[in-house]
Amino acid sequence: MKPWLIEKFRASFGRAPHWIARAPGRIEFIGNHTDYNGGPVLGAAIDRGVWVGLALRDDGQRRFASDQLSEVVALPADRMKKQAGAAAWVNYPLGVLAALPEFSLRAPAGFDYLAMSDLPVGAGLSSSAAIELASGLAFLAATAQQPSREILVKVGKHAENHFVGVPCGILDQGVSGFGKKDHLVFIDCRGPRFETVPLPGGAHFWIFNTHTKHALVDGLYAARHRECMEAAQALSVGLLVETNPAALLVAERKFSPIVFKRARHIVEEIARVSATVAALRVGDLAAVGKLLTASHRSSQMWFENSTPELDFLVTTLTSQPAVFGARLTGGGFGGAVMALTSVAFGDDEANLVAAAYAEKFGAAPDILHAQTGDGAELFTP
Ligand code: GLA
Repeated sequence: MKPWLIEKFRASFGRAPHWIARAPGRIEFIGNHTDYNGGPVLGAAIDRGVWVGLALRDDGQRRFASDQLSEVVALPADRMKKQAGAAAWVNYPLGVLAALPEFSLRAPAGFDYLAMSDLPVGAGLSSSAAIELASGLAFLAATAQQPSREILVKVGKHAENHFVGVPCGILDQGVSGFGKKDHLVFIDCRGPRFETVPLPGGAHFWIFNTHTKHALVDGLYAARHRECMEAAQALSVGLLVETNPAALLVAERKFSPIVFKRARHIVEEIARVSATVAALRVGDLAAVGKLLTASHRSSQMWFENSTPELDFLVTTLTSQPAVFGARLTGGGFGGAVMALTSVAFGDDEANLVAAAYAEKFGAAPDILHAQTGDGAELFTP
């Protein structure tokens, strides 16, 4: 990817970039909507992501190019208005620039900027966190600042929450920042505290991207966020991580039926993440797989962020002997399913699943045999 980036940067701006950064996409392994409830979550960085090339300009102009669109977006450094339409992708780097001063960091003034991606689009692999982290690393390098990795992750999340306007937790940015090949990233979102957990040998990830997306997905995410906060308030706790399944059941009459269902998913999911870490530590992939599938069923029943397409994939996948477990990955309401499999699951098995899906829904999902990869990094061109 690096040589292409340099070539495309030259084609767009007539010179080479001075800084190059890359940040990976992520798989949400388990811990569905637990992050903004203060709970734990496990994710994996993959070997695909977003690359950013940057060179400073001294005329105060910021020029943004990408490999997806032919148009270059040019903005003076003092114009920080949110962009709409085809230029909306620039809100990710702009959000990072706006977030830097919030962490007492400087933003570069004028620059030429190019983003390139080898992440499948709309697959729920968090291209937004990847572009935020790659942009953040490049902007910080260009201004000779070296904050900790944790600050970089928080800058990305701040951009998403306050500029892009999605009330997400720290999962996506945390995994993109702290990812490590052959490892999962464990985040205790209360700290936050980041750790890596070795992935037992013989574990494989397959992603089935349905390319379906609920039209109201951002609004639905925000609604789930609100319902969870309402549940915490009813229990007189700050966040749902401060309660447990038994205490929740005892307090059932304090909630509307909908809010109770949401809270049930979260508190049981929090318990599933801890059980998953324990099973990973002893290399018990069969137990891990059962927890993954249980997480999906809880999304389906209690959190209601699944869809018939995702449910069908999980059911079809889990009837295969080489599949340990499967679940929706990411926010839900469409998107992708992740399966954890043994090496015995290969292209033939994946194609059979895709064919069964195509027969039912009229179009085949995209298949990705995802490999784990390292977190965000900076390169010398
Ligand atoms: C999206 C958000 C994350 C997390 C997941 C659901 O990916 O960006 O912060 O809440 O949904 O677990």
